[in-house]
Amino acid sequence: MWENVQQTVEFIKSKIDINPEYGVILGSGLGGFTDDIEIEYTLPYRKIPNFPTSTVEGHKGALVFGSIGGKKVVAMAGRFHFYEGYAMQDVTFPVRVMKHLGVKTLIVSNASGGVNENYKVGDIVIIYDHINMMPEHPLRGKNDERFGPRFVNMGEPYSRKLIAKGKTVAADLGIEVKDGIYLGLQGPTFETLAEYRMVKILGADCVGMSTVPEVIVARHMEMDVFGVSVITDIGHEDSIAEVNHEEVLQAAAKAEPKVRALIREFIGR
Ligand code: HPA
Repeated sequence: MWENVQQTVEFIKSKIDINPEYGVILGSGLGGFTDDIEIEYTLPYRKIPNFPTSTVEGHKGALVFGSIGGKKVVAMAGRFHFYEGYAMQDVTFPVRVMKHLGVKTLIVSNASGGVNENYKVGDIVIIYDHINMMPEHPLRGKNDERFGPRFVNMGEPYSRKLIAKGKTVAADLGIEVKDGIYLGLQGPTFETLAEYRMVKILGADCVGMSTVPEVIVARHMEMDVFGVSVITDIGHEDSIAEVNHEEVLQAAAKAEPKVRALIREFIGR
């Protein structure tokens, strides 16, 4: 893994001379964020050695390099999900590459189903903690100390400082945000009513099929993480019938301008 990461980083550096400070992972329906980047270079995943290739619709499948408000960024347009069949090491490989390109702060976004009674479709949630219920762990296996320690402290998976900053930025922009705990499940099925109820009983506010592995690997390498989730459906008997991929993409697209503005300003400051 270490050698693969170095090889990929060298390849990228041979294409573009950039030291991104911020890494951004764009979730379902949020791909338009790349329009906010003064793009210097776009690298399709299929051209990057050791990168898996993205299969889900609504995702573009490229690393986008450039700047926002004078800050250097690299964005993942399209992420890899465990449910697509990738190993967890592949799902999280781009995060390792970002770290070794110089990224200090990782911004993750996703679409999720809300189980908190105060949530409604279109809400923007700043993730302050997560529950990992994925069936595989990205750090399972021999640990390479060059990346990070065997046993990783997860007391602050999402940086408190960045959460505070995110809330300030949102308030300044007049964007309403909530905060919440994200529970990660494998998917690709949406939850049954009983499972949504379980998610709530377990103490989470929303549930999705991504993010948790990437955040774990980011913390393994001591990157600071800021997470944002868009509530695209509500896990409740009155609304569960609506949940499908189209619905999720549409709801995410509606919230996209606000999420984009939030992340743009977050990086610029
Ligand atoms: N469950 C899981 N993943 C999701 C959901 C959901 O309700 N909505 C968007 N992604």
